[in-house]
Amino acid sequence: MLNRSILPLLCSFLLAASSASAFNITKILSQYPDYSTFNELLSKSGLASEINNRGTITVLAIPNGAIGDLTSKSEDVLKRVLATHVVLDYYDPMKLQRMKDKTAKMTTMYQQSGKAVYDQGFLNVTVKDGSFIFGSAVKGAQRDSKLDKSVMNQPYNISILSLSQPIVTPGLDGTLVPVSAPPPKVISPASAPPPAEEEEAKSPEEEAESPSEEETKAPSPSEDGDSPASSPDADSPTADSPPADAQSSPQSSAGKLKVSFGLFVVLASMVAAY
Ligand SMILES: *[C@@H]1O[C@H](CO)[C@@H](O)[C@H](O)[C@H]1NC(C)=O
Ligand SMILES: *[C@@H]1O[C@H](CO)[C@@H](O)[C@H](O)[C@H]1NC(C)=O
Ligand SMILES: *[C@@H]1O[C@H](CO)[C@@H](O)[C@H](O)[C@H]1NC(C)=O
Repeated sequence: MLNRSILPLLCSFLLAASSASAFNITKILSQYPDYSTFNELLSKSGLASEINNRGTITVLAIPNGAIGDLTSKSEDVLKRVLATHVVLDYYDPMKLQRMKDKTAKMTTMYQQSGKAVYDQGFLNVTVKDGSFIFGSAVKGAQRDSKLDKSVMNQPYNISILSLSQPIVTPGLDGTLVPVSAPPPKVISPASAPPPAEEEEAKSPEEEAESPSEEETKAPSPSEDGDSPASSPDADSPTADSPPADAQSSPQSSAGKLKVSFGLFVVLASMVAAY
């Protein structure tokens, strides 16, 4: 009798336990007043709950005194920046010591947002003068966030490491443009403009594609333009129609030339603008 009443209870308890997060980042960080601002920002950006949904994570926390202008960023930018401070793996100082060749490339939560371009979603960690230096893996990015200490860790679920300053990932807020050469991935001629914010980086490519489509379509409007002229001819003896067609083709290729020249000017001005 007793067993029967306990069993459902036990089941629901187990269910609740399995769906519960391994940790609550807000609660953990609230025990460390030095990170109260960072903690607030995690909640404000909605990143805290995303962190709690993970089982294995490393949070690169910034102490209040070093938070800089993070507090004045828009919520959108803030979330991106903070997402680059959450590594999708467990790293405590001991594990960092074991890094092969004293360097590692780490995947951050920003990589999972699907918004990352180039290496924006990755971090590069290197040992320099006995310190662990964290920075964006984007080529040419400044890397000078030093690991100051381990705030807490709960192997192998969560580790919180304290950095001397926020990691700056080029292009995340649209103000910093990677100065390095564009990676070979981008094949379109629009790769010439430097990648700014990812939305901006996308648009030239999209715009670059659409003109080329127009270019292939271009002959058809000019042929249509000829057809009203040639259709009265079509009523008259059929012998006229082949010359009409012959006329239309140089016209259409001339039109095509004009169109592509126009597109070239548009593209060139776009490139100049970027
Ligand atoms: C996490 O902890 C904070 C602060 O203690 C609390 O307000 C919040 O409800 C907790 N979140 C979850 C999902 O338990
Ligand atoms: C780590 O997380 C897993 C589930 O994600 C949980 O089963 C385990 O108890 C956690 N470990 C600790 C030490 O909390
Ligand atoms: C991190 O950056 C340094 C310096 O640019 C480089 O030597 C190292 O190979 C990089 N590490 C990884 C894992 O890519």
